Amino acid sequence: MRPPLTGGRGGGGFSGGFSGGRGDSSGGRGRGGGRRGFGDRGRGRGMRGVRGRGRGVPARGGMKGGSKVIVEPHRHAGVFIAKGKEDALVTKNLVPGEAVYNEKRISVQNEDGTKIEYRVWNPFRSKLAAAILGGVDNIYIKPGAKVLYLGAASGTTVSHVSDIVGPEGCVYAVEFSHRSGRDLVNMAKKRTNVIPIIEDARHPAKYRMLVGMVDVIFADVAQPDQARIVALNANFFLKTGGHFVISIKANCIDSTVPAEAVFQSEVKKLQQEQFKPAEQVTLEPFERDHACVVGTYRAPKKAKAATAA
Ligand SMILES: C[S@@+](CC[C@H](N)C(=O)[O-])C[C@H]1O[C@@H](n2cnc3c(N)ncnc32)[C@H](O)[C@@H]1O
Repeated sequence: MRPPLTGGRGGGGFSGGFSGGRGDSSGGRGRGGGRRGFGDRGRGRGMRGVRGRGRGVPARGGMKGGSKVIVEPHRHAGVFIAKGKEDALVTKNLVPGEAVYNEKRISVQNEDGTKIEYRVWNPFRSKLAAAILGGVDNIYIKPGAKVLYLGAASGTTVSHVSDIVGPEGCVYAVEFSHRSGRDLVNMAKKRTNVIPIIEDARHPAKYRMLVGMVDVIFADVAQPDQARIVALNANFFLKTGGHFVISIKANCIDSTVPAEAVFQSEVKKLQQEQFKPAEQVTLEPFERDHACVVGTYRAPKKAKAATAA
């Protein structure tokens, strides 16, 4: 068990969690996001504030006054919770002293006097953060992981993935908009574990020379053919038994049917492409009619048998 780190406000200051809105330090309280595993339908779980404190990690305490913050590991490796006036999800800044999108930073001091800087991760600006707060069981994005990120935009979430995978990991970030791509490329100049690729994710052959085999594909392209796009990329780059994490925006796929019907049909499409979805969380209250689906690609037979049992 790692001891909690304590520290005062640092960087751009720290004013806590999210109680409504897209601002970096404002935000609505986490209300119940729905989560279900495909093996245990109906097991909905609520969400209160920041979920998923590391098992065995000390609970709140030792923080008197507004200025002290305790940082504890989250149960997802590489993700942390800053516990101050309000809880906030944070990642350890790979490039201390630098913010990426004007997010808050928190500096904490170790017992030996060294400092660690964390960046607040806003679930209103990142579907991956929203999925974590929604209680997703696995993200598979962890220290040392190689991640192919489809739909990188200007790199807001990519930067946190870069923090999580750390110097031993790598993020191949694909974005086809040149405008967003400019910010992405600039961000990658300082984050050497990010490889920006300004291409259409529908044509993975165009960037096959740049991308190695990856452990995880994260997709947030918000396109009606997203399942196909992910399948094309998985075929090139995702290792057998690798994992996918997909954000689905129902409106982008079919605005004429209820969101839940869209999620179900997307899950079916994924199943037809050798993906084995294992769990689904909705991204409420941070995003309306969005779900995040997580699972395995070309699941090894043994794992299939274990899941079926
Ligand atoms: C919802 S935004 C992604 C936000 C980003 N994931 C984040 O959290 O910061 C979707 C992005 O996917 C990009 N996109 C859509 N279709 C794409 C494609 N075929 N290839 C590459 N990027 C695409 C869009 O330009 C847009 O920037």
